[in-house]
Amino acid sequence: MAAPPAAPPPARAVDLIGRKRDGGELREDELAVLVGGYLDGSVGEGQMAAFLMAGVLRGFSDDEALALTRILEGSGEVLDLSALAGPTLDKHSTGGVGDATTLLVAPLCAAAGAQLVKLSGRGLGHTGGTLDKLESIPGLRVDLAEDELLRIAGEVGCVVGAQTDRLVPADKALYALRDVTGTVASRALIASSVMSKKLASGAGTIVLDVKAGDGAFLPTGAEAADLARLCVRIGIAAGRRCVALVTAMDQPLGRGIGNALEVAEAVRLLSAPPSGSRLAGVALDLAAHGVAVARHGDVRTVAAVRRELERRWGEGEALERLRAMVAAQGGDPRVCDDPAAVLPAAPVVLPAPAPRAGTVTALPARRVGELAAALGAGRARKGDAVDPAVGLDLAVEVGDAVEAGQPLAMVHARDRGAAERVAAELAALLRIGDGPGGAVPDLLDVIR
Ligand code: URA
Repeated sequence: MAAPPAAPPPARAVDLIGRKRDGGELREDELAVLVGGYLDGSVGEGQMAAFLMAGVLRGFSDDEALALTRILEGSGEVLDLSALAGPTLDKHSTGGVGDATTLLVAPLCAAAGAQLVKLSGRGLGHTGGTLDKLESIPGLRVDLAEDELLRIAGEVGCVVGAQTDRLVPADKALYALRDVTGTVASRALIASSVMSKKLASGAGTIVLDVKAGDGAFLPTGAEAADLARLCVRIGIAAGRRCVALVTAMDQPLGRGIGNALEVAEAVRLLSAPPSGSRLAGVALDLAAHGVAVARHGDVRTVAAVRRELERRWGEGEALERLRAMVAAQGGDPRVCDDPAAVLPAAPVVLPAPAPRAGTVTALPARRVGELAAALGAGRARKGDAVDPAVGLDLAVEVGDAVEAGQPLAMVHARDRGAAERVAAELAALLRIGDGPGGAVPDLLDVIR
């Protein structure tokens, strides 16, 4: 009897890197050799960096992105939300400036009967992070064990915690390497990184907010829509309901940019019927798409769900859910009655006056975010502390008419020198022209 054919020798990392360098496509088992080897130390940092750079330059196929997502997701624990009555929802933003949508979307979805379990990250660079914002509320904890997450989601309808090291450890290792090797900007690597974390977080429905513009990872709506399409494809292939909104990030979304300032803005918005605020509009769009897809599997009912959410918001139900979530996470719930009495305040608050009259034509999100970070609201390096009290409270947005000397923003700072510096820089970077005003759209595309 002939001997069975010998098993092929395991793929060597150097050969796989060479194939990617030459524009080849790798199978899932081959990608697993690289990622698994990087985690166990048999594939070196230099090899992994070379592979990532080859992939960024040569491109990854959608099948490779799907395979990478599965490998990353399977590298750690997966949250089991099956004990929740559901429908379970998760929301993710690719990161922006003045983007406190989670503080509105989470309680809105809870008010509509969904259970939103969100594991968030911290701010980095010019973008803010939901955990930093929530931690500006005295006492509030984000390091929640799995049983606490489930209990709070069951009792309140929404909970926001920190992602643990046990969830998707391979993404953590790869992201740290991508961050220092110029290999973040890849559609497939971003999609697999984002979606592996969302899949491991266990929700049945995922609503994504993919930002486009100067303050986002991707500058154009077309690139952002392309990333959103891949994310949705990955979510659906994994058996989840998934919808993505592409939203503008050319100017900050909300008026507050800074941790306590953004919490105060969210509470102020939820304390009155939904207004014409752009932040409120994007939050309603996200929540309405998420709830419609979670309930019905598609977006046909989104207009009716949006009206229902507006009613619930106006009747104070979302504010009550936020109050309950803050209390359940150990925070001071009076923040929902009188944010100024509870949240930390900066010692110096100065106006940034408009240098001339006209119409605001540009308010570049990235630079505004960098100014808030320079005041201490953000961090330059992972692990840096943030100052919860400082930041900017914008008084204008693109399309507004301004008079010379009118405050463009209030600058909240630790000292007068920092406040004066940032006020001058803000007045210089904001563009004031003579053209007509008018609102600019925030919702650019819906991918389902
Ligand atoms: N956010 C992520 O979680 N991963 C990326 O790769 C980029 C943004």
